[in-house]
Amino acid sequence: MKRLLLALALIAVRAEALDDAAAKRFFNATGCNGCHAVDEQRIGPRFRDVANRYRAEGEAATARLAAKIRSGGAGNWGLVPMVGNPKLTTEQARAIATWIVALPEKP
Ligand code: HEC
Repeated sequence: MKRLLLALALIAVRAEALDDAAAKRFFNATGCNGCHAVDEQRIGPRFRDVANRYRAEGEAATARLAAKIRSGGAGNWGLVPMVGNPKLTTEQARAIATWIVALPEKP
């Protein structure tokens, strides 16, 4: 079942622009939601806070976040590092980074 969901999510993120339902499936299938939620603080920052911090930077922020989603990193939100997700393709990481940065300022 988990494999099937992952396959579906990965097909879904192949599209350039992700809709909200596809993003949610992606977060479930890849485990991002173990550490992140859009509006709830978990181990990692709220995705809405991420969007609010980087929105004005546009493309530069999207590219940087996509790279960090794949390789992991630390230092922007506190002391806890994010593990890498090297199984994601650059296109998948880009699609999800684009969706995160495009979140509106308020719920
Ligand atoms: C094991 C916990 C964990 C998992 C799983 C995880 N993250 Fe993170 N994430 C973090 C932490 C902790 C940070 C804060 C890192 C920092 O301070 O720079 C973070 C930061 C981020 C940031 C902001 C980076 C920055 O430089 O501002 C984005 C975007 C992000 N995560 C997306 C994702 C996505 C997408 C996934 C799933 C593919 C994911 N994360 C999976 C813990 C996690």
